[in-house]
Amino acid sequence: MIHNFTTDHQVNHRSIRQFKDQPLTTEQLTTIYEAARHTSSSMFLQQFSILRLTDPKKRAAVREISKQPYVGAEGELLIFIADLYRNQQIRHQLGNDGGRLHTTDIFMQAAEDTILALQNALTAAESMGLGGVVLGSIKNDPEKLIQVLDLPKMTFPILGLQVGVPNQEPQLKPRLPLNQITFNDNYPRDFKLSSLKEYDQTVTTYYDLRDANKRIDSFTKQINGDKLNNHQTSRDKLLQALHDQGLALN
Ligand SMILES: Cc1cc2nc3c(=O)[nH]c(=O)nc-3n(C[C@H](O)[C@H](O)[C@H](O)COP(=O)(O)O)c2cc1C
Repeated sequence: MIHNFTTDHQVNHRSIRQFKDQPLTTEQLTTIYEAARHTSSSMFLQQFSILRLTDPKKRAAVREISKQPYVGAEGELLIFIADLYRNQQIRHQLGNDGGRLHTTDIFMQAAEDTILALQNALTAAESMGLGGVVLGSIKNDPEKLIQVLDLPKMTFPILGLQVGVPNQEPQLKPRLPLNQITFNDNYPRDFKLSSLKEYDQTVTTYYDLRDANKRIDSFTKQINGDKLNNHQTSRDKLLQALHDQGLALN
């Protein structure tokens, strides 16, 4: 591969979950925002917003929902929101109806914009020597989250990003080999469990700082375990919460 400042940072990505009690400078925060702002935008609809949580009560409430102690602890907590409210308002204030804003198609486009913007924000942070972790856990209880954030209909919090000055140095987490995830022209249907034997071994050499510095299970064991086993969770309320927000209705 070609090594330059950008690619070296990208292939050295690791989630940071422990931060120094040191605020980001206004310049750092603005740089993160600018990187997010310039992300590609589906149909140029620009359907995302970032809600920065500084209120300790709101941060604590989001931490409670996520059940992860580092959420809203040290560092910035940014909530990336799929935002169709602004475009609905534009149309309403121009005397029109919401048109296709309630469709799954337009919601998906907003979600895509939002996720890409978050990754750009994280990459920008990492390029400045900061670190961060993407937070899907904020959606453990989507209805409660929307209530805590006091979000209007036509918005939906997609992911959080905890970002700050790193106070830990995790190992690089091994990813699936390229030959498992990149194909030319045809998608292969001859997947064999045995092709992941070596990768499985590599994964078990990774120490998870989250779990008292323990080695983690092999990849195939993780996939075959609790993460994907059938069980009910409060996250099953996601579709209902989306519909309650007036989104992805048809
Ligand atoms: C959509 C998404 C949601 C995630 N949610 C969480 C989360 O809620 N809490 C957390 O600690 N890490 C979360 N992560 C981080 C992943 O656990 C992490 O990226 C993965 O284990 C690989 O480790 P690495 O980022 O250090 O390479 C999330 C990552 C993504 C992409």
